[in-house]
Amino acid sequence: MQQNRLAAGNLSAGMSENLHQLRCFGCGARISGVDARPDFRCADCGDLFEVEYPGWRERKGPDRPNPGALKWLWRERRCSSEGLDHSGVWRFRELLPILESFGNAVTLREGNTPLYHLPRAAKRLGIDQLFAKHQGMNPTGSFKDTGMTAAMSVAKERGFEWVACASTGNTSASMAAYAARAGLKSLVLIPDGKIAWGKLSQAMDYGAVTCQLKADFDGCLTLLTQIVNEAPIYLLNSVNPYRLEGQKTPALEIAEAFDWNVPDHLIVPGGNLGNSSALGKGFREMHELGLTARMPKISVIQAVGANPLVRSLAEHGGTSLEPVEAHTRATAIRIGNPASWRKAARAIQETGGWCLDVTEAEIAIAKAEIGAEGLGCEPASAVTLAGLKKLRAEGKIASSETVVLVLTGHTLKDADYTIDFHRGTLLTTDESAGREAEIASLQRNAQVVDATPAAVLAALKGRVG
Ligand code: F0G
Repeated sequence: MQQNRLAAGNLSAGMSENLHQLRCFGCGARISGVDARPDFRCADCGDLFEVEYPGWRERKGPDRPNPGALKWLWRERRCSSEGLDHSGVWRFRELLPILESFGNAVTLREGNTPLYHLPRAAKRLGIDQLFAKHQGMNPTGSFKDTGMTAAMSVAKERGFEWVACASTGNTSASMAAYAARAGLKSLVLIPDGKIAWGKLSQAMDYGAVTCQLKADFDGCLTLLTQIVNEAPIYLLNSVNPYRLEGQKTPALEIAEAFDWNVPDHLIVPGGNLGNSSALGKGFREMHELGLTARMPKISVIQAVGANPLVRSLAEHGGTSLEPVEAHTRATAIRIGNPASWRKAARAIQETGGWCLDVTEAEIAIAKAEIGAEGLGCEPASAVTLAGLKKLRAEGKIASSETVVLVLTGHTLKDADYTIDFHRGTLLTTDESAGREAEIASLQRNAQVVDATPAAVLAALKGRVG
């Protein structure tokens, strides 16, 4: 460790750990982190804030990170025995100096998730280099952990006793776990009957106060905004800009995995649109700091029944967004009025990516295909492969391009969906029309079989040999 510190100079040891301020994404107003309102909206224009680091602008200034030293330091930390270095978020802490002391970080050793090759999907699509960054391999089974470690650490450092979120399930599971680790109390607002059981069980297991509301996700978030304006409760939805600081680190992991040559294309599911915004920020900052030579194209995929950003970009060039009433079985992205749409639109537009939507059948098929690669993911994550197929069919991605799908959640999060698909009870006749054969070829329903070798071997008929 000592050696790391010497080599990285002021990057690690001597530097002040808090170098940030907040900048309004709408009007550009700058405030100190401690002056943010409880709902994280700008007092002047109502838009959201982004974390920025003024010291990074001065090329030769003491706070500007040194790319060569950082790449070396971050790699060294993989062998370090220091607890913070085992986190795939805090391993990159020089790019998120948001705490007074890194000693306050609340971590479950999140991040450092695997980047898998997808050989079968790659072959079918005629792309050599197709990968999945599996964020479902985080401690609570979703990408939310990378953001939660950052924002929960801020909550703890600032002395809050209560934290809260509105959620389609994964944010609440993650928040409840990190709150428990930090010794804080947590409040979860979820849409009644519209989240997967696996996620609800996590919030209970980790000890959150969980309220199921007769409202959709957007309604839950609106209500929570009113609550935090009245009570000293720290809001941990992705309107909280510190969440996005943690969620930008998978971009660093991806760049590192490609030896700092970024892939050509990154494909991300879109719900409340915090994740695509965060990954865009990660790649932008790496480029600006000279860690990488360019940014990948970033494409965002939504479900047809929950596609407000697709419409915004198609109909208004991303300048305004009309909320929709959201419907999709991919409950994680059942969101009609996404908070971070402006930030996500910027990530797509500045990188030359696309935003498109996929049907319920396309999502179910893509999910089964990811399962058949031995990985699995939750339905919302599968929109990435479904979207890639469309982009390929439309000639928007060349066979020579390197593509990374961001799989956001673990397959066990929503086991009911998977079982319904394989039993043939997931999709309606209309939804599966024209794709029956493709669906049947992927279905692997469990069979009831007599407990004899002959009966089990008979069940293999036609499948072996
Ligand atoms: N994939 C999964 C598995 C999710 O849980 C979410 C969002 C998304 C994709 C979309 O990400 O909102 O950043 O665009 N889940 C939130 C929740 C809303 O409450 O767990 P986004």
